[in-house]
Amino acid sequence: YDLILGQTFQVTANPMTTPWQQAVTVASDGAVLLRDGRIEQVGHASDLRQQHPQARITDYGDKLVCPGFVDAHVHYPQTAIIASWGKQLIDWLNTYTFPEETRLCDPAYARAIADRYLDLALAHGTTTVCSYATSHPASVDAFFDAAERRGLRVIAGKTCMDRNAPEALCDTVQHAHDESKSLLEKWHGRGRAHYAITPRFSPTSTPEQLEALGALWAQHPSCLMQTHLSEQVPEIKWVRELFPTARDYLDTYEMHGLIGERAVFGHAIHLEPREIDRIAETGAALVHCPTSNTFIGSGLMDVAGLAARSVPVGLATDTGGGSSFSMLRTMAAAYEVAQLRGTALHPAQLLYLATAGSARALHLHDTIGTLSPGYEADLTILDLASTPAISQRAAEAETIWEAIFPTIMMGDDRAIADVWIAGKRRITDQSV
Ligand code: GUN
Ligand code: ZN
Repeated sequence: YDLILGQTFQVTANPMTTPWQQAVTVASDGAVLLRDGRIEQVGHASDLRQQHPQARITDYGDKLVCPGFVDAHVHYPQTAIIASWGKQLIDWLNTYTFPEETRLCDPAYARAIADRYLDLALAHGTTTVCSYATSHPASVDAFFDAAERRGLRVIAGKTCMDRNAPEALCDTVQHAHDESKSLLEKWHGRGRAHYAITPRFSPTSTPEQLEALGALWAQHPSCLMQTHLSEQVPEIKWVRELFPTARDYLDTYEMHGLIGERAVFGHAIHLEPREIDRIAETGAALVHCPTSNTFIGSGLMDVAGLAARSVPVGLATDTGGGSSFSMLRTMAAAYEVAQLRGTALHPAQLLYLATAGSARALHLHDTIGTLSPGYEADLTILDLASTPAISQRAAEAETIWEAIFPTIMMGDDRAIADVWIAGKRRITDQSV
């Protein structure tokens, strides 16, 4: 068994609703004891060293030991079209996304992209993702299989669409239901995999398809249900035309049984007061995708305001609408978006959103995202001086948070010193 030493990031409450000083701590001589894939003990280096003289020690010095990053909304099939120029949401989908997703009809290509995506995610310190696949069932198998080979806790689902998309990507009401059902029966709860029933968004599903997926979810309530909500103004206008009897965008899901505690809505930027009330009432979660929201030109989510209403909010790259695989870059974008709305998110809040916050949004808050006894041992170790620009700033820091913030704002995969997956070390950094 292993004893990890370093500065440890610990969360005891939600710093979006409780003052961060009372919710989050960093221990400068921290220690985490790992056994059989789980965290057994967290404490001070000298105490744990004494109690466990037999443990194999990995000493990270003043590096920051964090829970592995949790990316709560990605499209792994869009890996190869990240950073595609010049379009807003609907044109971006038609020009770049749908043609690329069509290529995943080839299972060999789907497997190659799933492997490529998960290696990139791990290189950026992300140990759990909640991903959309394409409409091809083999793209779901490819992703879960690639995650299983790496020992990762992941969530994914077949993206269901039966209108307003190329024929090669459209399924039907019956196929969406039956294929989702057989995939969730195969993968949900197998090893570290969970299944998310996944209608892409209201514009690409008929009311009948949404109804069928709502019925499927009612029969399998331990699955998540993920989709997109109110990302861009022209999209919302289109939804109003497609669903003339719905009260608002959220209602297009609500009408069909697609709301509840395990619902996870991506983006949620342009919400009506009724929608916010209903989300808060039902316990549904939202996911903030700040690099995507600026890259595609969608808008500025009110992450602080929504989280303050006790809505669970996760953080995500939204690869490849988002412009980065890095949760550090994503925390920086969340900081900038909040600044444009007049709120300064504290680094403790940003790290929370990328770990325990995302885990909470995905209903994995008893499993991952926190350095506490009993949790699965997925860890990301941050080098707080990974580039000359960062280290010269961090050298001036007077507090630990001042030392961490330059890595949040300027860090990337070079800041990821090491990753542990279920208690196993992935990278061997010679300098440690
Ligand atoms: N809305 C529906 N599909 C998508 C997608 O693939 N990416 C983003 N950003 N928004 C969407
Ligand atoms: Zn998305």
